[in-house]
Amino acid sequence: MLDDYAVVVGMGQLGRVFAQAFLAAGTAVIPALRRTPLDALAAAAPEPRLVLVATAEDDLPPALNALPPAWRGRVGLLQNELVPAVWEAAGITDPTVAVVWFEKKPGMEVRVILPSPVWGPAAAWVADALGRIGIPAVVLEDYGRLVYELVLKNVYIWTTNIAGLAVGGTAGELWERHRPLAEAVLGEALAVQEALTGQHFDPARLQEAVVAALAADPAHRLMGRSARARLARALAHARRLGVAVPTLERIAADTASAG
Ligand SMILES: NC(=O)c1ccc[n+]([C@@H]2O[C@H](COP(=O)([O-])OP(=O)(O)OC[C@H]3O[C@@H](n4cnc5c(N)ncnc54)[C@H](OP(=O)(O)O)[C@@H]3O)[C@@H](O)[C@H]2O)c1
Repeated sequence: MLDDYAVVVGMGQLGRVFAQAFLAAGTAVIPALRRTPLDALAAAAPEPRLVLVATAEDDLPPALNALPPAWRGRVGLLQNELVPAVWEAAGITDPTVAVVWFEKKPGMEVRVILPSPVWGPAAAWVADALGRIGIPAVVLEDYGRLVYELVLKNVYIWTTNIAGLAVGGTAGELWERHRPLAEAVLGEALAVQEALTGQHFDPARLQEAVVAALAADPAHRLMGRSARARLARALAHARRLGVAVPTLERIAADTASAG
C-alpha cells in the first residue's frame, strides 16, 4: 500500500521539475493531466503529502475550483503573478507556496537565478526535495515575508517582461541602458501589486532586491513568450483597481501599433 505520495496537477515545465524533486526525496508522484478524473483519483489517493497545482496563472482559478474536497487542505502553488487573493478566491486556506527563482524552458536545463523561498505546511519537505536535485530553496517562517517575496517576484517578472517588450535585450542591459524606463515600469508594477495585496512595501528596498535579481542573471533575455499576456493582465488589474499606469499604457499602445 502506497503511503507517501504527492499529486502534481499539470505536467508542464515546472510540474516535471517538482515531480523529479519529489521522486528524489523518495515520494511517489501521481500526475493529474487535464483529462484525469480528479474525483476518482482523490478517492483512490485521498491523503497526498501535497497536491502541487503547476498550471500557468490563467489556468489556476479553474484548476483550484476543480480540486476534490479531500485535497483542498493540501494544496501547493508556484505560479508567477500569484497573490493571496488568488487562492483565497478559490476558498483555499493555508497552501504551501514556492516563489520560484529558477527557470526551466523547453529543451533547456534548469537555470537557477536565486534561492527559491517556500512557505507553508509542506515547505520544509519541498525545500529539501528541490535541494536533492540541485535547486536551492529556503523555508520562510513568516506569512508577511511570503507576501513580500511574492510581490518581489511579481514586480521582477512584470518589469523584465513589460520593459522587455519596449526595448528587448537582456536583464543586465535593462538597468545599465534603460534605467528611467525600468524604474517607471517597476514603480507602476509595484503600485498594482500593492493594490492587489492591500499592503504597502518600501519602494527602495524592493527596487534594490529587483536590481539584485537582475544582476544575478544578467544574460537573461527580457521578453519571454508570456510578455504580452503579462502586460494585458497588469493593465486589467490596474483598470479594475483604479491604479494609474501611464508607462504600461504607453508600452501597450506603442507595441500594439508596432505589430
Ligand atoms: N517555466 C519556468 O521557468 C517558470 C519559472 C517560474 C515560474 N513559472 C510559473 O509557473 C507556472 C507554470 O509554468 P510552466 O512553464 O510549467 O507552464 P507550462 O509548461 O505551460 O505547464 C503548465 C501545464 O499545466 C497544464 N494544465 C493546465 N490546466 C490544467 C488542468 N486543469 N489540469 C491539469 N493540467 C493542466 C498544461 O497542460 P496543457 O499542455 O494541456 O495546456 C501544462 O502541461 C506559470 O505560472 C509560470 O509563470 C514558470
